[in-house]
Amino acid sequence: MSDHLLIAVTGGIAAYKVCEVVSTLAKGEREVRVVMTHHSQQFITPLTLATLSRHPVYTDADFWQPTHGRPLHIELGEWADLIVIAPLSAQTLAKLAHGFADNLLTNTILASTCPVLLAPAMNTDMWEQTTVHRNWQQLMGDRRYHSAPPEAGRLACDRVGMGRMAEPKDLLIHIESLLYTRGKRDLMGKHLLVTAGSTREHFDPVRFISNPSTGKMGISIGMAAFHRGATVTLIHGPLHGHELNVTGLNPIPVTNAKQMRQCVLDEFTQAHWTIMAAAVADMKPIHYTSHKLPKASLSNTIQLELVPDILTELSVLKQPHQLLIGFAAQTGDSITPALEKLRCKHLDVIVANAIDQPNCGFASDTNEAVLIGSRGHRHSIPLNSKLHLAHQLLDFIGQI
Ligand code: CTP
Repeated sequence: MSDHLLIAVTGGIAAYKVCEVVSTLAKGEREVRVVMTHHSQQFITPLTLATLSRHPVYTDADFWQPTHGRPLHIELGEWADLIVIAPLSAQTLAKLAHGFADNLLTNTILASTCPVLLAPAMNTDMWEQTTVHRNWQQLMGDRRYHSAPPEAGRLACDRVGMGRMAEPKDLLIHIESLLYTRGKRDLMGKHLLVTAGSTREHFDPVRFISNPSTGKMGISIGMAAFHRGATVTLIHGPLHGHELNVTGLNPIPVTNAKQMRQCVLDEFTQAHWTIMAAAVADMKPIHYTSHKLPKASLSNTIQLELVPDILTELSVLKQPHQLLIGFAAQTGDSITPALEKLRCKHLDVIVANAIDQPNCGFASDTNEAVLIGSRGHRHSIPLNSKLHLAHQLLDFIGQI
């Protein structure tokens, strides 16, 4: 059965951004319905969202129209698996915080029990008002509500500050997480240390040894864990433009394996689970020149040495309450080398990741893998989004 998503739009210029969210969701396998408040219709029209969602939009004019003889807010409240309020205005935030029920949207919220994702958008001074802050904190203390917090940037009022609505792509990631977890925060109180991306080993300022990892898998694991209530520290190499996605994940950027090793060792003691999704470049040039070498002086051979194996070091430091998870990005047979890495690096779980399959591995938005636990239990994950795979990995780790 497909997921039922109710998108609620309140009055704010960021309403235009929700069109992209509705359009993307409606093209997938989800059923999307839209509720618009009176003021939201000053910014975009019901026709826009009806066309994009392939379904009539509900407004306050429909509130008392019988659907199958039952009130619409009850029908919608029971129908929805997830409600997303984007943009969330200061007005609707205040109404929710105080349990008001004076329009279709607020009545539907009170008549439902599903998770609610809130994406506020407003002017910086409005967002920073004590009353608004108090209302926000009030809702954030209620486990039903999940936050897609506003971001800093240039606002439509030309002010530069906090208050921009989360970007559509970030809302879509959050929505996918919530549809998977149904709002459970099972990693609350857990600290996850996640590594992502490649490392670069320079032999002069512009030339280096590396690999094509973009960090999408590690970022997806960090996001999934964050959405499930974990505190995440993300140590990452160069991310090829995905840096924006790591806000909230306590990102620590590094360039090479030596820096990654040091940062991982610094953070390791406070981590319950450490997931090394980074593709660490195994070799580094022995010599580094601080100026760009002229082509004529480049030799045919670069002398290399191995970089330290971070996971192997961690396995010596590991305490009984800690879990170590590694990735084996392989071509050909992915299982045999993964089992070998699980054993040699004393891991609790290894992710056997066949990167030579279509739509898998480096830079792809999708992936498939076999999860293998230290007691030999396995779980195959067919091709799916990296976020979905991340959630399945977190489930698997939680069950060992
Ligand atoms: N890893 C690590 N430190 C390194 C190299 C790898 O901690 N110097 C971690 C990776 O983050 C990954 C796991 O070890 O979680 C396996 O990495 P992979 O590159 O697949 O294997 P290697 O151990 O480097 O062996 P090989 O290159 O021979 O496959």
